[in-house]
Amino acid sequence: MAIHETEERNGKLRTVMKLEPGERVALCRCMRSAEFPFCDGTHKSIEGSAGPAIVEALETTPDEGATDE
Ligand code: FES
Repeated sequence: MAIHETEERNGKLRTVMKLEPGERVALCRCMRSAEFPFCDGTHKSIEGSAGPAIVEALETTPDEGATDE
């Protein structure tokens, strides 16, 4: 399950989210969701509103995620 935390930075709120590999979330872009920052489908009742942003964490193998240091 996505872990998210909202924090203030430079006078603005920002949400930092961590996803498990393969996890997918729908983020609200209409600003009306009762589950903000997640989409709860409210946008469907608002004519002309934006739909959600779908974010998916890619699955990686150990070799793909490795870095040379
Ligand atoms: S509820 Fe806002 S985009 Fe879905």
